[in-house]
Amino acid sequence: MNLPDDTVSTGINDVVSIARDGAIGLIVLDNPPVNAASHALRSGIWKAMETLQADSAIKAIGLYARGRTFIAGADIREFGKPPQDPWLPDLCNFLEDSNKPIVCVLHGTTLGGGLEVALACHARVALAGTRVGLPEVTLGILPGAGGTQRAPRLAGVAASLDLITSGKPISAEQALESGLIDRISEGDPCEIALKAAQDVIAGVLATRRTKDLSTQPDQDAISAMRAKLEKTQPLLFSPHKCVDAVEASSLPLSEGLQEERRLFNACMESPQRAGLIHAFFSERAVAKVPESLATPREVTRIGVIGGGTMGSGIATAALLAGFPVTLSERDQAGLDRGTATIAKNLDGAVKRGKLAAEKRDSILEGRLSTTTDLADLADRDLVIEAVFEDMGVKREIFETLDKVTRPGAILASNTSYLDINEIAAVTSRPEDVIGLHFFSPAHIMRLMEVVVADKTGADVVATGFSLARKLKKIAVRSGVCDGFIGNRIMTFYKKAADYMMMDGASPEEIDTAITGFGFAMGPYQVADLAGLDISWAANKRRAATRPAEERYIPIADQICEQGWFGRKTGQGFYVYDEKAPRPNPDALTIIDQERDKAGVAPRAFTQGEIVDRFVTAMILKATRVLEEGIALRPIDIDAVFLFGYGFPRFRGGPMHTADQIGAGELVRRIEAYAQEDAYYWQVPELLRNMAERDGSFAEMNEGT
Ligand code: 3HC
Ligand code: NAI
Repeated sequence: MNLPDDTVSTGINDVVSIARDGAIGLIVLDNPPVNAASHALRSGIWKAMETLQADSAIKAIGLYARGRTFIAGADIREFGKPPQDPWLPDLCNFLEDSNKPIVCVLHGTTLGGGLEVALACHARVALAGTRVGLPEVTLGILPGAGGTQRAPRLAGVAASLDLITSGKPISAEQALESGLIDRISEGDPCEIALKAAQDVIAGVLATRRTKDLSTQPDQDAISAMRAKLEKTQPLLFSPHKCVDAVEASSLPLSEGLQEERRLFNACMESPQRAGLIHAFFSERAVAKVPESLATPREVTRIGVIGGGTMGSGIATAALLAGFPVTLSERDQAGLDRGTATIAKNLDGAVKRGKLAAEKRDSILEGRLSTTTDLADLADRDLVIEAVFEDMGVKREIFETLDKVTRPGAILASNTSYLDINEIAAVTSRPEDVIGLHFFSPAHIMRLMEVVVADKTGADVVATGFSLARKLKKIAVRSGVCDGFIGNRIMTFYKKAADYMMMDGASPEEIDTAITGFGFAMGPYQVADLAGLDISWAANKRRAATRPAEERYIPIADQICEQGWFGRKTGQGFYVYDEKAPRPNPDALTIIDQERDKAGVAPRAFTQGEIVDRFVTAMILKATRVLEEGIALRPIDIDAVFLFGYGFPRFRGGPMHTADQIGAGELVRRIEAYAQEDAYYWQVPELLRNMAERDGSFAEMNEGT
């Protein structure tokens, strides 16, 4: 709705204006895209409040925003820069102390500092469909503009702890029920702000200052949350500080706010804050690729070839996103297996609350079709191949696809390692061929590498990114090479783990060190889960071309020789039965035997040394992947590891971690390790130069 004709609108600055309608003063925010509480927005609101408070004709003030959302939080880009007055906490106190009633209208995603501004107003109305939350903990901080003090006063300690320590937004209905907001209305924000302010003047909408309420102490909820976080998030810093801050809300507001500030500052100084904010931006930065200006091709129908682990996962992801999918297999038995896996995946989605139970059957019956004849993929806009990792099989399939699919259809391969250029070359239309490398389980993992071959069309690349958005995945652009960004780096650092295992560390010691660093699983737990036979086959394939200087560790191959492939066979590096997984004594015997054969006298490794070598190897190879131009920027590598390999989010990714360690220290480490193995540990030129000029990977993200 536009303001009534007789309203007088005045610009305060570029992002804030005021409008008057009789006794009502409106403060209008317009700071696209998400009305972040930047310095301009904060100072604009302050000035607008001063102006309206000084105006004797104004009896009530309404605060609302234009665009897709009310304030979605503090401006994260200002973090780490010198703070500029007015600070958000001061602004909230100023709003709360207003001598005229102020009502705030929430819409979109009212998050963090946005909700804190609202909690400091004297009444809150939300549009239906609004989500509100305090997600600061996901950025390694806590609500620092009074949220930890005002939310418990309105919603109680237990509900506030949930909101603040989980960071998850809640619906307007839940917010109303908890007391965080006072009313839900339908309409547009301007209209609702006017109506709410009229209701305040008429006494129909009650106002109060949140600071005048006191928090009902709830020590049980505090202790229960502390115990839960000790167990579930022992490595994280800010969730524990969130609890301390909420506990302080039973103090008088000014004292509680002081305690909140102290804890907030501690979080701001924590390296976890920098890591988590880097992770937040990495998720968005990866979409900025040279091809993003091209217009994506329209994709409405998808074909998937291969109904194994990956094909059925990819089909599930596409079905869940609403695409009609045709699944192709070699024979009916393959189709039956694939369909059964898809059905199981959909059941899982129902259990996780991602899919309504009644939709499961309609998806299977209405959206999924199957065939053993590739010619049935003729009407598909995109076909994703996920058959055996065998160049011969893939070439054959692409030759056929070239003939049977319509001109302009995109032909994608989910290969993990194979050369997309070689695959494209068997078709008459290499510009339509691309790698779309999903991660297992494909309907759950968020990463998708978009592998751009020499002749891939820019619009085909753009389609890969647009598809990822529709599948709710994070796409990262990669060049063609053996293993692309992620697997190329993983294959390398996995060797560092194997060398440590050969030289004296047990698989369990290595896994414990790596999970202690923050990975959800260590390399041997991952290997057992993925199946040791997969790398066994790859090892055999690579044996002929393995350089003579490379140190080769045959332990995993020896374990495979026994028929032990990890979880699926009941044992690998660990034993899997009805009890908790535990180290496999027979695997330990094999390790001892291999050490004896190689004449290695095992030595002790500290947990710190294991982490240092593992992470340094990862950074070393990641630097080479940058040098080779396979990854565009360091932040792309960070995103690959954060969203595809379980790298601890609070550490921001391997390249962000490299900057924390420093290029000089990394060079020193690599040179020290090279004393034992000069072939494996070679300092990349890029890293050496960086160390010499005291540079960083962050600068490369900025393009400097
Ligand atoms: N500050 C600065 N920029 C922000 C921002 C913020 N709080 N939130 C989003 N942006 C930017 C994004 O980086 C993106 O920029 P780009 O177009 O240049 O890449 C742009 O706004 C649009 O964001 P999305 O692509 O994420 O848009 P969506 O519509 O998908 O999502 C959203 C919108 C749900 C608001 C999502 O952006 C989000 O979750 N933002 C972060 C919210 C948040 O964490 N707020 C708390 C901040 S900390 C705080 O308030 C501290 C206080 O307690 C003192
Ligand atoms: P899989 O062995 O589970 O499934 C392959 C399926 O392809 C089988 O069901 C087989 O019957 C079918 N198939 C073989 N030839 C076919 C043909 N000519 N026409 C139709 N169907 C055919 O293998 P998985 O693990 O699903 O891997 C598939 C591809 O995905 C491989 O290229 C692999 O490298 C890649 N990949 C695998 C990942 C994993 O974690 N398993 C992760 C990412 C990629």
